[in-house]
Amino acid sequence: MKKVMAFVALTALVSAPVLAADGAKLFGEKTCNACHGPEGKKPLMPNYPKLAGQNAAYAEQQMKDIKSGARNNGQTAAMKGVMHLVNDAEIKAIADYLSKVKP
Ligand code: HEC
Repeated sequence: MKKVMAFVALTALVSAPVLAADGAKLFGEKTCNACHGPEGKKPLMPNYPKLAGQNAAYAEQQMKDIKSGARNNGQTAAMKGVMHLVNDAEIKAIADYLSKVKP
């Protein structure tokens, strides 16, 4: 039992920074940076959004809506094509990461 408690405590300690790091890694691995620029700061096109510093809850919802098709306007079709690459947990990790990047 003691071992389990220690493990739980350890997981809680390390999980926050790991999540942030994963988001940064995913942003490159899943090709997000190709359109939104490194750290979401320099979009490829003037009509593509900057993502750095965006509110995490908002960004998460937009990604889910673009993936599901609920948000279907402007240039969403360009992005929808890559959204099968990320699951809900990865979307959340990326949203958390983006919210912490200084714009
Ligand atoms: C092919 C280009 C492309 C790729 C790749 C791409 N996006 Fe996008 N993304 C866009 C465009 C264009 C929009 C704006 C859609 C619109 O006009 O409604 C957008 C919108 C968003 C938004 C909503 C921004 C807002 O202010 O509402 C978020 C968050 C986002 N992208 C994150 C990501 C993440 C994370 C990835 C990688 C998994 C990704 N995008 C991959 C082009 C892309």
